[in-house]
Amino acid sequence: MTVGVSKALELGVKAVVCASTGNTSASLAAYAAKAGLPCIVLIPAGKIALGKLAQAMMYGAIVVGVKGNFDVALQMAVSASKQVGLYLLNSINPFRIEGQKTAAFEICDQLGWQVPDRVVLPVGNAGNITAYWKGFKELKALGFVEKLPKMVGVQAAGASPIAKAFAANSATIEPVKDPETVATAIRIGNPVNWKRALNALKESNGTALAVTDDDIIKAQKLLARREGIFIEPASAASIAGLKKLVENGEVDADETIVCVATGHGLKDPEAAVRVCEGIIEIEPSLEALEKVVKS
Ligand SMILES: Cc1ncc(COP(=O)(O)O)c(C=O)c1O
Repeated sequence: MTVGVSKALELGVKAVVCASTGNTSASLAAYAAKAGLPCIVLIPAGKIALGKLAQAMMYGAIVVGVKGNFDVALQMAVSASKQVGLYLLNSINPFRIEGQKTAAFEICDQLGWQVPDRVVLPVGNAGNITAYWKGFKELKALGFVEKLPKMVGVQAAGASPIAKAFAANSATIEPVKDPETVATAIRIGNPVNWKRALNALKESNGTALAVTDDDIIKAQKLLARREGIFIEPASAASIAGLKKLVENGEVDADETIVCVATGHGLKDPEAAVRVCEGIIEIEPSLEALEKVVKS
C-alpha cells in the first residue's frame, strides 16, 4: 500500500478510495493519514472484523458501509474512481501489485536465497497470489534464484470461484453471487484478478483448493495451540489448505513450504472468542480454583 500511496502523491491526486473486506481499508487509511490525503473506504456493512474497522476509523478515513457484499462495494469504488475523481487503491491498481510482489523477495531473502517448493496463499481478490508470482518470476529472470515455486491458492468453500474454475480446468470463473465464510477477508465472489491468478496457478504447475469454515477454524486453533501463532481466519485458510494437500498425499515430506499468514488474529478477535472454550467464572476463593484445576 505504501507504493500505491506514494504513487498517488506523485500523481498529485486529491483523494484516495478503496473497497475492502477490512485489511486494505486499514492500510490505506494509515498510509493516507501519513501522506495527508483524504481517504474514503467502502466496506460491506456489518461484515468486517472489528480490529480492521477500528484501524480505519482511528486513522481518520471516511468509512462508508455499503449494504451489499465486497464485490458490490468494489464496483462502486471503480465507478467512483472513474466518475468522481477518486484515486483507486485496490489491487486492480498495478502499483499495488508492484509493492505486494516484494513479499516474494522477502521469502527468498529469509530462506537464504533459496526458493521454497511451494507457496500457499489464501485467495480473495487474488491480488496477493498474482503479485507473489510476479515477484518470483522477476527474481528468476534477474538471475537471483534458479527455480520457481509451485503456487497454491486456497479459498473458503463458500467463496471459491477460482478453486472451482481450476478444478474444472475452465479458462474462466463463474462468480459466486452470495459469498459466505467465517474468513471475512476472503469473502469475495468475483475476484478482479482471477485471470492472472489462474495463470499463476497454471504457469507454476501449482494448484487451487477450497476449504470449509470448519477446516479454517481447526487450522487457526492448530497453529495457535501448536506454535503460539495467532492468525485471523482468512490466513488460516492457507494452513487448512496445506493440511488437505498433505492428507491427499500431494506433498512430499521433504518439501520446503511457505504458508503466508496474511493477518494477525487480533484483527478479528470476535471470530476467535466465538470458537474458543468460554471463560470459567469462579468465586474469589482457592477452593473454587482448586475445583477448576481438578476438573
Ligand atoms: C488477511 C487476508 N488474507 C488474505 C487476503 C486475500 O488477498 P487477495 O485479496 O489479494 O487474494 C486478504 C485480503 O484482503 C486479507 O485481508
